[in-house]
Amino acid sequence: MPKLKASAVAPSNIAFSKYWGKQNDELTLPLNDSISMSLDQVKTHTTVEFADQYDQDQVLIGDETHPLQLVSGKKKSRVTDQLGFLREKAGIELKAKVVSQNNFPMGAGIASSASAFSALTAACLEALEIEVDKKEQSILTRLAGSGSATRSVFGGFVRWYHSDQSENCFAKQLYKPGYWSLADLILVVSSKHKKYSFLSGHQLAQTSPFLQAKVKQTKKANDQLEGAFKSKDFSLLGEVIEQEMFSLHSVAMTSDPSILYWSAETIDILKEVRQLRREGLEVYATLDAGPNVHLIMEQKNLDTIEKRFKQGFGVKRMYRCQVGKGVKTTSNHLF
Ligand code: PMV
Repeated sequence: MPKLKASAVAPSNIAFSKYWGKQNDELTLPLNDSISMSLDQVKTHTTVEFADQYDQDQVLIGDETHPLQLVSGKKKSRVTDQLGFLREKAGIELKAKVVSQNNFPMGAGIASSASAFSALTAACLEALEIEVDKKEQSILTRLAGSGSATRSVFGGFVRWYHSDQSENCFAKQLYKPGYWSLADLILVVSSKHKKYSFLSGHQLAQTSPFLQAKVKQTKKANDQLEGAFKSKDFSLLGEVIEQEMFSLHSVAMTSDPSILYWSAETIDILKEVRQLRREGLEVYATLDAGPNVHLIMEQKNLDTIEKRFKQGFGVKRMYRCQVGKGVKTTSNHLF
């Protein structure tokens, strides 16, 4: 019998080139490759236990502002679908309890689904003693339905390859965390859950007349990013990161119905980032599906840039992230 109880901690990640829209919804096959940086300060810690004392699956989720609570509906079924899938793979029928704790606000554009589904899958694989290599783990993680979680299996800088074949759609580490001292200063302007889920955002993307242009653009962006990594050209890296963000949000804004993730604070911060560059400080902004802004910079500029956003701009909370490690199992259980 496998050990049946295990825990894992997974990093969130910030996409430098963006996944938005799928070619296959059920298998979470994206339209293009995406490249990300794993983040060391924004994480999900998950414990799962399979046991006959549970007559049904229970899922408890909490974050820094919401205490752990039992979830139901879509939130629960996204977790229990993955439990069911891995249970079948292990050939067991026991129900499970899952406790998942984020150290940052969920559903506000800090990619909580990335860390959550990466931690959940890693904890289940360990508990059920399903042995897979990291490539296979990234595929199994993707099948939980969160594409960005595929990249959170790895630390450092990661590329998720698209394909119309599930077995060829996996993530791979491009560079280890120590390769380049970059930082992501996350400015939280709202910790409210966004109105549109990622899922409907990916689906609505198909209604935008700009989706194909974005996919073409992202292909070019990936080549440029690879080049920028190779030569450690931060200006090129930053320009591509910002352009990718605007491409994703152009698709979101021109979807039917239109999705506007930005708030007034988001725009003020985007303008200030341009002002900082005019002053000679190299910093670039990106956003996921929410109003909160990720400022990408070289680590040496972190203190100066942080000071600039300490007052004003509606910033409620900041996370100073460096390049993080990939998902890890831990003996520290949450229950
Ligand atoms: O992985 P999902 O389904 O949570 O979607 C994530 C999409 C973005 O974060 C907006 C972009 C990305 O590539 O991470």
